[in-house]
Amino acid sequence: MQWILETHAHADHLSAAHYLRSKLGGKIAIGEHIRTVQGVFRKLIKLEPGFHVDGSQFDHLFREDEEFSIGALTAKALYVPGHTPADTAYRIGDAVFVGDTLFMPDVGTARCDFPGGDAHRLYGSIRKLLDLPGNTQLFMCHDYPPEGRKPEWETTVLAQRAHNIHVHDGVTEEQFVSMREARDATLAMPVLILPSVQVNIRAGDFPPTEENGTRYLKIPLNAL
Ligand SMILES: [Fe+2]
Repeated sequence: MQWILETHAHADHLSAAHYLRSKLGGKIAIGEHIRTVQGVFRKLIKLEPGFHVDGSQFDHLFREDEEFSIGALTAKALYVPGHTPADTAYRIGDAVFVGDTLFMPDVGTARCDFPGGDAHRLYGSIRKLLDLPGNTQLFMCHDYPPEGRKPEWETTVLAQRAHNIHVHDGVTEEQFVSMREARDATLAMPVLILPSVQVNIRAGDFPPTEENGTRYLKIPLNAL
């Protein structure tokens, strides 16, 4: 295995990156702004003094538009912040793995209310994706299908521009931001946000073992 590509520090599930690397090898990579996310959560959760906010838990940090290869394929890391300050999408040939930016057209877009999230930045990131050629294949990273539809994972730039319920062509930044912020205000925090983030900003590893041989997750009671 060459790469284990993270799009961001997930807030609703633990990353398998560390486990996968232990079984298969490969380099765990994420966008360089993961350092910002690490800084936010080190403070919020009051992590141990030895927790570094330099991204060194990962094997590689991508700069904006950095190119890399996967076998014979050329790939590019696209910086698409908004859902978090560190989101990366990956363009591989004429396909893009969008991370948490766009969802399927009938579902819309990712939330922007986690610490460091920003609906204005998400709008800009999405427009960047929607400026790609119309036939670009977009691979979703989540799908929460409406009643009666089976899960789907693939669409195109053209379909998103025509049909995305939050950001089809013609939706202005102001309209998007007021819709997104109003909707986010109604969403509960994910049940697993605290365990997820503490593990995922360590590239999927658990916190270090303490003197008594036990590893702990911390649960702040009044911080989120
Ligand atoms: Fe996410």
